[in-house]
Order: sequence, then structure tokens, then C-alpha cells
Amino acid sequence: PAVEQVKLQEVVLAEPRGFCAGVDRAIEIVERALVKYGAPVYVRHEIVHNTYVVNDLKSKGAIFIEDLADVPEGATLVFSAHGVPKAVRVEAARRGLTVFDATCPLVTKVHVEVAKLHKEGYEFLMIGHKGHPEVEGTMGQLNDGIYLVEDVADVERVQVKNPARLAVVTQTTLSVDDAAEILAAVRRRFPQVREPKQQDICYATQNRQDAVKVLSPQVDIVIVVGSPTSSNSNRLRELADRLGTPAYMVDQPDDLRTEWFVGKQRVGLTAGASAPDILVQQVIARLKGLGAASVRRMDGIQETMRFPLPRGLGDKSMGAQ
Ligand code: F3S
Repeated sequence: PAVEQVKLQEVVLAEPRGFCAGVDRAIEIVERALVKYGAPVYVRHEIVHNTYVVNDLKSKGAIFIEDLADVPEGATLVFSAHGVPKAVRVEAARRGLTVFDATCPLVTKVHVEVAKLHKEGYEFLMIGHKGHPEVEGTMGQLNDGIYLVEDVADVERVQVKNPARLAVVTQTTLSVDDAAEILAAVRRRFPQVREPKQQDICYATQNRQDAVKVLSPQVDIVIVVGSPTSSNSNRLRELADRLGTPAYMVDQPDDLRTEWFVGKQRVGLTAGASAPDILVQQVIARLKGLGAASVRRMDGIQETMRFPLPRGLGDKSMGAQ
């Protein structure tokens, strides 16, 4: 379609969008480790699921690996924000590696809960997406007794040893609505199930989805900045789509397709928790090139969450920095 058919008017920015406190902290851990120990710093798995962030850290001297066997003796190693199975932690200690743990504290909270209830004899259902590193990390806190349920059908067929001693945990970045539906099925089948006091879906996931719910009806199309591997970004795109607004995810501004915008006037723009603001700004510049003269920020809540850095990388230990 010809570019002249595209006459955008306005960009509406979701609020909040983009980096969460866990992502901010994880990136800062790698950057500080590079300053303190020098390159290379090894990182197990993508520190956060974003292509731009990973490439930027690579250029600064980070080396991303999946298998600890690829980390040389004496190296510095960072665990990604998604967390790691217990066996990985044990292996890193056995190898004597200098480890900094960038696991989001809200994921660690789930790990701690799993370990505690396991000691009390509980088994677990984990609501999450198979193969996602956070799910592997949380399920990997135990050798057995934790079962993945991805949907209602899984809940119907899962076999547990003792329904009276069963707890449920979830991945932090799920669709709030899907998780509620699956949890309802868990309660129906296992009325005695023990639930976390505070839900495991994190504040950032909840807030970004809430913002898309407000944004979608105000616009003709939604663009989500995020990488294909990013769970929470995919959920934002899906949500807008389910609300009836065509939605696309872009990993970088070049992914934008002019034909998406034919006949559209208002573009809603959001970003996953791992997507940096520089990409949002670049996307805005492209949308201005397609005619969007005004950029409006939706009203939304201000996030103030901050997580402390691990010991050894905090401000004091960094001297004048
Ligand atoms: Fe943590 Fe949620 Fe961000 S679990 S890394 S605050 S998306």
C-alpha cells in the first residue's frame, strides 16, 4: 500500500510501560560487574529477554552462555533476572566461580516460598509456560513434587499425591486473566489448595496489562516494543488483540510495517518490562514520520519500586562511583 494512504494523527503512550525494577537491577549488576572485575563477565542466559540490551552488554564485554561448562575457571558469572534451578547454583559454587545473582527479588520470593512449603510436605502446581527459564528456575528449586500446568486441561489431568497438601505458584509474567482462569480450575479441582498470600504475578506485569486495558479502546492499533522471547511483552500484544485492537510486537524500529497503519489515526504504544526506552523513542520518531503530529501520555500510576543491588556491587563497595 502506498505511504500516502497512511495519515497517522496521534501516538498515545501507555503508562506505565517499559523497564521494571527487576530489569533495571539486572542490567546494572552486569554493568557494575564489568566495571569492578573487567571484561569478560559471563552471564547465564540472556540477562533479560531483549535483543538490544543483550547486544549492548555484549559490546561492553559480557558473554552470554546457557551451559556453565562454557564458563572458564575463575570467571565472574551473573545469573539472569529469570532465576536459576538449584543445580546451577550448586554447580557454580562447586566450580568456585564468582557469582552475582541478578534473579529478580520477586522471583526469588517465589523460590523461597517453594522451599519453605516443600519442607512442610507440600507438593506444587506451577502455572506457567513450558520452557521459559523462569519456570525452569522455579521448578528446579525441587527435585520432584512440582507439576507444570499451562492451561485448564492440564489442571484437569494432573496427578498429585495428596490434594490436602498442595500449593500453587505462578510465573511472574503471565496474562493476569489467563492465570485467574487456570487458578479457578485449580480451586475447583483442589478446594484445599494453598495459594500465595500475595499473587506471584508481579506488580510490573499487572500494571502494564492494566495500562493496555485502558489504552486499547482509545486507539486504532497497538504497538508493543519487545523481543519475541519476552513473555510479558507477548502477553501485552495478546491482550490488546483480545480487546479487539490490532496489535503488533516490534523488537526494533525497522520491524514496523507501513501497511499496518493504513486507515489508522491513533497508535497506542507500550513496551514490555525488558524493553529499553531508547527503542520506544525510535519508534515514536518513525510514527512521526508517518504523520503522527502529537504524542500524548496516557494517565497511569507512577511506579516507585526499586530493588537493592547484591552485596559486593552496591554503592559503597564501588567507592566514588
Ligand atoms: Fe521482576 Fe516482574 Fe520485572 S518479576 S524482573 S519486576 S517483570
